[in-house]
Amino acid sequence: MKKNILVTGGAGYIGSHTVLELLEEGYGVTVVDNLSNSSEESLRRVEKLTGKRARFVLGDIRDAKLLDEVFASEKYYAVIHFAGLKAVGESVREPLQYYDNNVSGTLVLLGSMKKAGVKTMIFSSSATVYGIPEKLPLTEDCRLSAINPYGATKLVIEGILQDLQRAEPDWNMMLLRYFNPVGAHESGEIGEDPKGIPNNLMPYIAQVATGRLEKLRVFGNDYPTPDGTGVRDYIHVVDLAKGHVAALKGYVEPGVHITNLGTGKGYSVLEMVHAFEKACGKPIPYEITARRAGDTAACYASAEKAKRELGWQAELGIDEMCSSTWNWQKKNPEGYGC
Ligand code: NAD
Ligand code: UFG
Repeated sequence: MKKNILVTGGAGYIGSHTVLELLEEGYGVTVVDNLSNSSEESLRRVEKLTGKRARFVLGDIRDAKLLDEVFASEKYYAVIHFAGLKAVGESVREPLQYYDNNVSGTLVLLGSMKKAGVKTMIFSSSATVYGIPEKLPLTEDCRLSAINPYGATKLVIEGILQDLQRAEPDWNMMLLRYFNPVGAHESGEIGEDPKGIPNNLMPYIAQVATGRLEKLRVFGNDYPTPDGTGVRDYIHVVDLAKGHVAALKGYVEPGVHITNLGTGKGYSVLEMVHAFEKACGKPIPYEITARRAGDTAACYASAEKAKRELGWQAELGIDEMCSSTWNWQKKNPEGYGC
């Protein structure tokens, strides 16, 4: 029988790529999204690509009545919980909005799940929970800390899920800690569509390549890294999406399953710039500026646990990350245009 998955935040960047993989794998999908940072166009395009439709419910995860109705309408195997706000700088300026949306939203969702007897959840956690890395590569048992309110919401939610599972051992909680998701589906039909000027490196470079932004500012070249610029573990969003399917299939027993989703390899800002230049066939103008507050020198995963427990590992490399981003950006210079 077809397993139904409720995907919160499924119209967003990682969500839409995961919905596509779920549909391809034969799951039934319902998306609940308030479209605060996305457009329903992403799901229309997923339908065009797969020939299969995800049911879309426009709504907020803080709306218990709406969630109860959604859970009453169908039997769900699991919830994949992407919905949340994710801009670090904004979280520093608007902490209450972040705690309300991310933490209160998760509490409401868990309440509705409990009522409906749906006790399997995949939660979008983040490498941000490692704070300033204790050691590299980062293993799942490394020390955790929050260095901004966004990170604090992820840590608090991880704690809530673990406390609930301890109190009610029939819950199956999968905490997936993503490193730096980049890239787009190979079709160029879906991709990352940040509102306003991008905060993150890859979408910023892509907009410099189209001429929408003048030049990249490289935040510091005096880090203790091979070329002095920051090193991160960039992971192709399609690999990341497949990691969710692997977790759904691999973690079937109740418990708390904590896993990094990264490649295990770090690239510097300048390495990313040069790889992107190769992909788009033009120079990316950049200047070196001061470090950005709150950045760490290097952050990359140990990807061993996911490989060992799920048989999952990232397949796509830096060239595919850059070429797919460029393909998406070229085809959709204004994103979804909504
Ligand atoms: P995104 O903003 O593209 O997607 C999040 C989606 O959730 C959006 O469609 C938004 O409209 C929706 N949403 C937000 N608040 C909601 C609410 N209260 N009710 C209903 N829908 C709501 O972001 P993304 O990059 O796809 O990230 C997905 C998840 O992964 C987030 O939880 C994010 O914190 C986490 N994550 C992202 C990254 C990254 O760099 N992109 C890294 C680590 C973790
Ligand atoms: N960078 C620049 N110029 C820019 C943007 C970024 O030089 O315009 C540099 C940063 O200093 C850093 C690297 O590029 O060295 C990557 O920066 P991003 O902003 O793309 O990503 P971060 O590693 O800072 O953070 C991202 C998300 C966090 C998440 C983390 C781990 O923004 O929310 O990945 O998943 F927690």
